[in-house]
Amino acid sequence: MGDEFDAVLTRVRERVTPAPEERERLEDVVAVLVAETEAVLGDLPVEAEPVHVGSTARNTWLAGDRDIDLFVSFRPDLDRERLEEFGLQVGHAVLPESHEEYAEHPYVVGEYDGFDVDLVPCYGVADAADIRSAVDRTPFHSQYLADRLTDGLAGDVRVCKQFLAGVGVYGSDLRTRGFSGFLAELLVLEYGGFRPFVEAAADWHPPVEFDPEDHGTVAFEDPLVVVDPTDPERNVAAVCTVENVASLQHYARELLAEPREDLFESDDPGPVAPGEVREVLADRGTTPVALRFDAPEIVEDQLWPQLEKSREGIAGELDRRGFDVFRSAAFADTSEGARTATAAGDAALLFELAVAERPRIERHEGPPVHVREHARDFYEAYADGDAYGPFLDGDRYVVEREREYASAIALLEGEVVFDVALGAHVESALQEGYDLLVGDEVAMLAEDFGRELARYFAPEP
Ligand code: UTP
Ligand code: MN
Repeated sequence: MGDEFDAVLTRVRERVTPAPEERERLEDVVAVLVAETEAVLGDLPVEAEPVHVGSTARNTWLAGDRDIDLFVSFRPDLDRERLEEFGLQVGHAVLPESHEEYAEHPYVVGEYDGFDVDLVPCYGVADAADIRSAVDRTPFHSQYLADRLTDGLAGDVRVCKQFLAGVGVYGSDLRTRGFSGFLAELLVLEYGGFRPFVEAAADWHPPVEFDPEDHGTVAFEDPLVVVDPTDPERNVAAVCTVENVASLQHYARELLAEPREDLFESDDPGPVAPGEVREVLADRGTTPVALRFDAPEIVEDQLWPQLEKSREGIAGELDRRGFDVFRSAAFADTSEGARTATAAGDAALLFELAVAERPRIERHEGPPVHVREHARDFYEAYADGDAYGPFLDGDRYVVEREREYASAIALLEGEVVFDVALGAHVESALQEGYDLLVGDEVAMLAEDFGRELARYFAPEP
């Protein structure tokens, strides 16, 4: 009897391994880019050299991926302003069709011969412990893996990345908060292959900790810890959420129980139409409310954490005020052009409420009577007011006083929205104004967020 698991892996491995022609083409393009970068650098009054990093340098990219990470390594004594200035200058010269993006410092992203090239300035420090910016670690990562990844292991890394992507946990951007390519590489290396990794992950009991170079610095609070072999101070899995670790475990078990290729493909549910949203809402019997507004113009790695913080802040306030938040979500359309195309607002915070209306009064408990001073103050504060009581429940004073907000909608229309912890730019965006959609009106979101709503109403691990 053949092993179904291995059969599936063999087919996936074939699909994700670049053909020799693809490799050659990539190598040719990299060689041209390196030569052009060197030429541009030759005309600048600074010492620097191009370094090819990332998965295309480590033989771990997925077939069809067109992503070249080319770093320009400057001397560590160059000041930051000059590094940024030279970095952008080189980037634009080498990549005429490009735009600037911003991480810790600005860099240039552009197209070259059908490839997506990131041209990133970094400091060529002697030791990863002396890095001056986060990207300075990257060349050390490449060197570390180049010394250890065999062709066989590189093949397993590809399979691993494809699996992580298929189940929706690949990427260390702050929207996904999952597994980075480097993390996948280290895990496959640690376990000696994809299969042992999956078998182990199915049995993990977080926190799960690895320290491949025995730095002895495993003092992180995260569910998954992989101490960076090139930098003892850093957990490579720092951004990975508890949910994403759990998700990996769930699908690792699925794959072992019933090996199949569809786990290596992300399923796109396709957008729902407004009518379907109305139907499912009627079926659920909840009260959805959504704040719709123009997303602030910040990079995605700033936007998503701010949206999440705002969602949590508002959900917490709704909860505290007696409105049960059943589930909530943040949506944003960050595709290019969305900002101008979507007049209705390209971001939304959705709160699905189990309870949206409360009685006009709320119960408010005071201290026990035997706590003499506090009890007296409480009694006097309410005795002559409009509240019912104070009366006793057990040994405590209780009043039934007017509730500040008897409806969640009134709350969300009010100033209290701005009293909760919101992401700074999201707060300004909401100050500019927002639409409040209630009940069936939320179905309108399907016009721009049909896919997001489809996922929301068909949640998966
Ligand atoms: P990439 O995101 O391009 O990753 O970052 P990758 O390893 O090339 O993988 P894929 O195949 O494109 O998805 C380039 C390099 O930046 C560093 C790593 O060294 C990575 O190889 N990096 C990136 C990190 O250290 N941490 C991150 O969260 C992201
Ligand atoms: Mn890459």
